[in-house]
Amino acid sequence: MTDMAVVVGASGGIGRAIADRLREAGRPIVALSRCCPDGWPGSDWIPVDVLDESSLASAAARLAGAGAPTRIIVATGMLHGPGVSPEKTMRTLSLESLTTLFAVNAAGPALVAKHLLPLTPRDRSSVFAVLSARVGSIGDNRLGGWYAYRASKAALNMLIRTLAIEHRRTRPLGICVALHPGTVDTALSAPFQSGVPEGTLFSPRQAADALLAVLDGLGPDANGGFYAWDATPVPW
Ligand SMILES: NC(=O)c1ccc[n+]([C@@H]2O[C@H](COP(=O)([O-])OP(=O)(O)OC[C@H]3O[C@@H](n4cnc5c(N)ncnc54)[C@H](OP(=O)(O)O)[C@@H]3O)[C@@H](O)[C@H]2O)c1
Repeated sequence: MTDMAVVVGASGGIGRAIADRLREAGRPIVALSRCCPDGWPGSDWIPVDVLDESSLASAAARLAGAGAPTRIIVATGMLHGPGVSPEKTMRTLSLESLTTLFAVNAAGPALVAKHLLPLTPRDRSSVFAVLSARVGSIGDNRLGGWYAYRASKAALNMLIRTLAIEHRRTRPLGICVALHPGTVDTALSAPFQSGVPEGTLFSPRQAADALLAVLDGLGPDANGGFYAWDATPVPW
């Protein structure tokens, strides 16, 4: 029986490391991303923009022909980009930043779930995991700032929790979870690493290993949860 893994956002720092780790472990894996990751076999890549539902529908149709994925990891996301940078104060809030980050960080993974979750097997365990962020925790917000990113991740967390409840009705062994990868040395975090305490910045490979270990340790009761890289639950 095929035990296929799918990594959405396999061109990113953490997504690529997860995809590489799964491939090294000999698992059938398909990478989904806007561009084929460097050096990745084109036969194991499907073009996807998470904000383009037609690309997700095409990807789902292609994946359906390859077998039921038992592990779907969504590693897409955005913190900064053209016209978007994390707000230090409400004076810099903008509709553009808010809508862009809500689209990429919350709507995108939810649309991935809409198209890919139905492919998971009904009679076997499976995991649908999205990379969220601890700064999306409302209970853990002590510093403020980063309005759009925080709020988009909080919205993502609610979407995952809601998806988990519906998913459970047809897949008693399937789980949907949100993960916090820690602070990881990628393009996303690069401009903001100066304040990171010594020894706490993970390489993408370290983060990938930690996150895959977390996923390996989660049972059906983990459905709808939010977990950090060390498997500890993160408060909502
Ligand atoms: N790095 C950290 O310290 C950290 C901490 C907490 C949480 N996270 C979360 O972890 C996840 C991965 O972050 P990262 O550090 O690996 O960032 P990254 O290297 O910037 O990767 C981001 C990925 O998202 C993809 N992406 C963005 N918009 C997309 C779209 N519309 N359609 C398809 N793909 C899209 C990018 O694709 P392209 O290559 O096509 O641009 C890229 O593959 C994010 O959700 C981030 O919020 C990261």
